[in-house]
Amino acid sequence: MNKSYELVVVANRLPVDEVVDDKGKRSWARSPGGLVSALQPIVRRQGGAWVGWTGQPGEAPEPFDTDGMHLHPVGLSEDDVDRYYEGQSNATIWPLFHDAVEQPTHRRPWRQAYEAVNRRFAEAAAALAAPDATVWVHDYQLMLVPAMLRELRPDLKIGFFLHIPFPPVELFMQLPRRAELLRGLLGADLVGFQRPLAAQNFLQLTARLLALEPDEDRVEVDGRTVIARAFPISIDVAEVQDLANDPEVQAEARRLRTELGGGDRRLLLGVDRLDYTKGIEQRLEAYGELLAEGVVSNDDVVLVQVATPSRMRVLEYQQLRARVEREVGRINGEFGAVGQVPVHYLFQSMGRADLVALYLAADVMVVTPLRDGMNLVAKEYVAARHDDRGTLVLSEFAGAAAELETAFQVNPHDVEDLKRGLVDALEADEAEQAKRMQPMRMQVHDNDIDKWARDFLDALAGDPEHGETPGAR
Ligand code: ADP
Ligand code: F6P
Repeated sequence: MNKSYELVVVANRLPVDEVVDDKGKRSWARSPGGLVSALQPIVRRQGGAWVGWTGQPGEAPEPFDTDGMHLHPVGLSEDDVDRYYEGQSNATIWPLFHDAVEQPTHRRPWRQAYEAVNRRFAEAAAALAAPDATVWVHDYQLMLVPAMLRELRPDLKIGFFLHIPFPPVELFMQLPRRAELLRGLLGADLVGFQRPLAAQNFLQLTARLLALEPDEDRVEVDGRTVIARAFPISIDVAEVQDLANDPEVQAEARRLRTELGGGDRRLLLGVDRLDYTKGIEQRLEAYGELLAEGVVSNDDVVLVQVATPSRMRVLEYQQLRARVEREVGRINGEFGAVGQVPVHYLFQSMGRADLVALYLAADVMVVTPLRDGMNLVAKEYVAARHDDRGTLVLSEFAGAAAELETAFQVNPHDVEDLKRGLVDALEADEAEQAKRMQPMRMQVHDNDIDKWARDFLDALAGDPEHGETPGAR
């Protein structure tokens, strides 16, 4: 008989991606994105199972155990990748849930594929879960799974967590087959969001679309109670701190600073998936204007922008890449000198140690998404800065802004405000840096990923008081 699991995580991606090199040789690498960073430590510690896609089209490899986890790959054909992942998930739902900062596209075959793939994930989870087990479904790619799973396995405790923003009622109403999506989510016992406003939007929709009667943080549906509440996600603080305390990482940070311009040039840092929600273009525009106006110069500042490759088969992402690279070229061409440029642009993934070395080297961390569910990079930066130095420029439109209140907060839609934030952050003296950094470090330290998972899982287990998140209402 196949082994069954008390905790099953269901997410679009496995924590590792299958990588195929030029010679067709296959290997595994850490998957991109905040969801994996957040969940991997929890599943590892609980010896749970993880149902997800390998990141490559084709037949699913056999399930396997690694790093204390049981990984159960779900296969996606080329067509599934086109329609379910790149289409419905990333060209319809993703832009719409991020305030439609890019125009969402609606296609019937994408919706059909989304439903079929969601069913496959639900069936895989149903087959792996022990009697009365907990199944935790994640993110916008799998919003139909909770209801499908409940039909297959009514004995299970089903939780759902949305890592991205949940849109205002009027925007959600634009989605074709919107009621079905909502019913999909209502299959869960507990629906978690990053922000309280998102939970409110969701509950309002149940009244508007399904004529249900939400009351405070809950709603009755088919004789069950579904709770909707905010659980702001966090990071593995200890992992980041261990790296930040590692002498080799610290030496690498010093090397980076020397290489980028001695102690004299101040280092601005951006680390994002190359995604139009991250506001990279607006950031470059603001930086370019500051250089053009002579407020900063190539001799006293340098920007390192790490842009992780993401969703590169989706047209909007290809276009974004072209625009970003053109702008980097323009800025370097116009304001650079031989051997010294104002922007270092890295279109690549990185190891955790290299990333933390960059965090330690940076004077100003620039996290300016147009809209973001949380943004873990901001929290990682704060966790790394045990020296209480460095400043954080943070978008008001990132979920993290509610918790990291002493960051230099900016409206990234307003270039002047972005420029103001960058200049203020560059000008902050040591005392001001420490005054702002300390409360943020305390916040992140007291609310790490373990607490997030415990709060969610306790609330799901029926201990709502314990699951209460301070400041989450
Ligand atoms: P998202 O989930 O939208 O990608 P987050 O900021 O919440 O955004 O999470 C991104 C995660 O990916 C962080 O844990 C960050 O450390 C990691 N990451 C970002 N860029 C890179 C990179 N170039 N190489 C490796 N990891 C990265
Ligand atoms: O939370 C946002 C998210 O879509 C996660 O689901 C995912 O881990 C991450 O961004 C990276 O995106 P993708 O899996 O499409 O590369």
